[in-house]
Amino acid sequence: MQFKPADWPRKLRSQEWFGGISRDQIYHRGWMKNQGLPHDLFDGRPVIGILNTWSELTPCNAHLDVIAERVKHGVYEAGGFPVEVPVFSTAESSFRPTAMMFRNLAAMATEEAIRGQPIDGCVLLVGCDKTTPSLLMGAASTDIPSIIVTGGPMLNGYFRGERVGSGTHLWKFSEAVKAGTMKADEFLEAEASMSRSPGSCNTMGTASSMASMAEALGMALSGNAAIPAVDSRRRVMAQLSGRRIVQMVKDDLKPSDIMTREAFENAIRTNGAIGGSTNAVVHLLAIAGRVGIDLSLDDWDRCGRDVATIVNLMPSGKYLMEDFYYAGGLPVVLKRLGEAELLHKDALTVSGSSIWDEVKDAVNYNEDVILPVTQALTKNGGIAVLKGNLAPKGAVIKPSAASPELLKHRGRAVVFEDIDDYKKKINDEALDIDETCVMVLKNCGPKGYPGMAEVGNMGLPPKLLRRGITDMVRISDARMSGTAYGTVILHVSPEAAAGGPLAAVRNGDFIDIDVESRRLHLEISDSELSARLAQWMRPCAEIGSGYAWLHHQHVQGADTGADLDFLRGNRGAAVARDSH
Ligand code: FES
Repeated sequence: MQFKPADWPRKLRSQEWFGGISRDQIYHRGWMKNQGLPHDLFDGRPVIGILNTWSELTPCNAHLDVIAERVKHGVYEAGGFPVEVPVFSTAESSFRPTAMMFRNLAAMATEEAIRGQPIDGCVLLVGCDKTTPSLLMGAASTDIPSIIVTGGPMLNGYFRGERVGSGTHLWKFSEAVKAGTMKADEFLEAEASMSRSPGSCNTMGTASSMASMAEALGMALSGNAAIPAVDSRRRVMAQLSGRRIVQMVKDDLKPSDIMTREAFENAIRTNGAIGGSTNAVVHLLAIAGRVGIDLSLDDWDRCGRDVATIVNLMPSGKYLMEDFYYAGGLPVVLKRLGEAELLHKDALTVSGSSIWDEVKDAVNYNEDVILPVTQALTKNGGIAVLKGNLAPKGAVIKPSAASPELLKHRGRAVVFEDIDDYKKKINDEALDIDETCVMVLKNCGPKGYPGMAEVGNMGLPPKLLRRGITDMVRISDARMSGTAYGTVILHVSPEAAAGGPLAAVRNGDFIDIDVESRRLHLEISDSELSARLAQWMRPCAEIGSGYAWLHHQHVQGADTGADLDFLRGNRGAAVARDSH
């Protein structure tokens, strides 16, 4: 931690727009005054953009208007000038073909919203899965001082006296309906019980994982991730973040000062300790790419290997985010990592202090929610990165959400050429499949779907569900919801639609998986594999227009974060300078 605050006062970026009496500056300032703003707000104080992903069609973020008001209070209190700016919002629950296709669009929109406007610092208001990485990516690309405030998780869900988790129980109940052990009207009754309040998914799904990643990276104030959306302390957090960003602008404390390699390694280990989402892999790789840090899948495997999963939350465990908050939240986990020498303690945070200073006094109030290491859910809880002739650039699996007996497995492939093929065949009673088979789904990667949808945890055939089978090995180039579970191998790279070896798998091939030795092997000879790939033809129709075309042309593989090639790199200072 070697950060030296900039001198203050000094001329800020926003003064290029507001700070003089040229015709253009009067134009910029005068039109702002139609909102009833006093002249002294333009006197050189930090202009803080509150970048808000509020949308009524992003239900997890639909309360961010309230949070934004509290951020404004904080900014004013600290002597800044807050301006609320809407940015592109993507709902995991309803955006088609998949919210992931629009993560990069939202990141680009965020970057341009900052670049083209008189903003000196940003408060990033996010919540639902993709909104967190997209705004972090955009802010990283501009590299002006930024702090993240997440909307917080929903309250615990309860159905007939039992905790029910967002997503996790959706998968469980829908399988139960297919298996005939739950009635459709009970499913309907359970639906509302899962979503009792504003906020993001209450499991350790992708939204909670990414909120935790933001905090572990140092980009949020300590304790931010777990505070429930409707808890009054969420609004306090927003107000304090508003105060803090003003000082960050004065100090010129930028994302690149905070999001260092050490910070990313802290985040990777944190993801292992919380049993976090596999989606965090693609998002952290993409964010790192925006600050010019050469993070790789191998870093995920290396850093996550020795981390025990100690947070007993669904989908890996039994509790929910509200319980996690009452137990002490992420600071307790970070403290544990620090005590185990698995944390770069000097990593800088938005507070201006080191991460260790922020968490060293944290207290665990519930050892059944945040477990002692001796009772960890999984001893090696990180994301495992598998490689082999089926995934030369890697594939990922979350061992803590898998069935231990399937982590070493050899089985006959049952192949689905794409998601439509899967939907057509899966309910067919004549499908030649049993529980020892390996289900293989192709063409669901970044280019293939397009957008890399969360379909990797494909449901099992009803005929096996009715026999009580609850898990099988599944392999794809898709992603999986962070709320899901199972022995699911994801993000196979290169993807099938880019001509990766996954495209060559045929029904009846045997596949060998060994998570312990990180092996993923298709049992055919090298020459047979080459011959099959030589015959490979691009399966999906060309995408003709619009953002989908841009995405398809430029999206990179999951192994580097599925970002658009022209947005990667440490462009920050140049991006901010381009504005004037
Ligand atoms: Fe928005 Fe899960 S669907 S956080």
